[in-house]
Amino acid sequence: MISGVLWILIVGASIEDPLLREPYRRRALSLAQSEALPADPTNESSQDPRAVVLGEMLFKEPGLSGDGKTSCASCHDPARGFVDGKQHPRGFALIPRDTPALWDVAGQRWWGWDGRWDSLWMQALAPIESEMEMKGDRLQVIRFIAGNSDFKKRYEQIFGPLPSLDGMPPRSRDRNGPVASWMALGAGRKTAVNRAFTNVGKAMAAFERTLRSPTTPFDSYLRALADGDRKAATEYHPGARRGLLLFIGKGNCVSCHNGPLLSDGEFHDTGLLTSGSAARDAGRYGGIQELKDNPFRSSGRYSDDPDGAISGRTERLRRDPMLWGAFRTPALRQSLHTAPYFHDGSLVDLEAVVRFYSRREGARPAGAGHGHHREAMLKPLDLTPGEEQDLLRFLRSLSSGSKSNQG
Ligand code: HEC
Ligand code: HEC
Repeated sequence: MISGVLWILIVGASIEDPLLREPYRRRALSLAQSEALPADPTNESSQDPRAVVLGEMLFKEPGLSGDGKTSCASCHDPARGFVDGKQHPRGFALIPRDTPALWDVAGQRWWGWDGRWDSLWMQALAPIESEMEMKGDRLQVIRFIAGNSDFKKRYEQIFGPLPSLDGMPPRSRDRNGPVASWMALGAGRKTAVNRAFTNVGKAMAAFERTLRSPTTPFDSYLRALADGDRKAATEYHPGARRGLLLFIGKGNCVSCHNGPLLSDGEFHDTGLLTSGSAARDAGRYGGIQELKDNPFRSSGRYSDDPDGAISGRTERLRRDPMLWGAFRTPALRQSLHTAPYFHDGSLVDLEAVVRFYSRREGARPAGAGHGHHREAMLKPLDLTPGEEQDLLRFLRSLSSGSKSNQG
């Protein structure tokens, strides 16, 4: 009789999941996927189904690049979870930053590791003309669309007539910068070309908005938690549950990796060897200046909402030395399939990421190279080997079994 009670107590205690109680339940549920993405008033076509189709065609189209061989999909390969798997992607040069995946990308607030873009459509224009990425040009892009009857028809149905390119040079800029005959054009003609170019970005952004991450074991668990379905909740591996507790509890990962994307969308120095005030890559500090100087920013003339909340956020940005070498907190869904990790791709797998946070492997020695940073260095969590395994299991459970969202 006594041993029976004891047995029930022991088994009862071991199956009672702390995540079913507050504050853990609430904290865990704050990470649930959101159905709706924030609207983008700077892009009136962001939810136009015709723009989604055109945007996908453009995303995969090598004809927009300088050599006719490179497309967005060359680096953001849909079959590989929208990454290239390389530490340093190669377009026309080795790029010092890791290629981010594009899952739920429309849920971000700033784009790029340094946040130098404040809309998805503005972002899409940069790689097309980048010397390191596609080496294309806005005039070449518009000529390509004008010369292809299918693309032209689809474009004009959404955005109206393409501008005339009569008398315009082949490219607006070359290796030496802007081409003189482009600069000499009247402001109206240049604006019309720029507007058509931004429409290409707006169509691509509409497509990117549809890239939603598939349901993961973690999402199924949160659903069970929300429904109070204890039985379904036990299907989530106990190790992953312990890892989740570390993530929202002792490990305090949620101070930065929070909300539906598991990212606060802001910029931090995690103490990586190559981040912080001694970093060669200026990170957010450089990103703010680039954003403010870019005519395609959300407060500029090509935005469909230049006086709205998004542009207000950009105009209020101030460069703070503390932001030197700070990078945007990455979203974590599907990250199992997007190695390597961190802005410079220096951590090869999720095991290395866990060792980084647990033992500070790959981190700067405390106190080094962040003299004027107010942000305190993360302390080693010194997890036990078992806890490291749990955290790893949790991180893996944020991804589905498949790299693409098709299966
Ligand atoms: C040569 C490889 C390469 C090509 C081609 C390329 N990208 Fe990227 N992409 C990258 C890298 C590297 C970054 C990170 C850049 C940074 O943060 O400085 C990036 C960043 C992005 C981001 C920001 C994601 C985020 O989470 O902030 C988006 C969106 C994106 N690319 C879309 C595109 C589109 C659209 C195209 C085609 C017009 C394209 N990329 C072409 C490598 C590439
Ligand atoms: C101070 C904010 C902060 C905290 C706390 C934090 N992270 Fe991060 N995390 C970041 C930032 C910023 C990056 C990217 C840094 C870089 O690229 O230099 C990152 C990168 C990552 C990555 C790599 C993702 C990718 O796609 O490259 C993973 C995984 C990760 N963190 C998991 C965790 C876990 C697990 C914890 C808790 C043990 C944690 N983080 C705590 C801010 C934080």
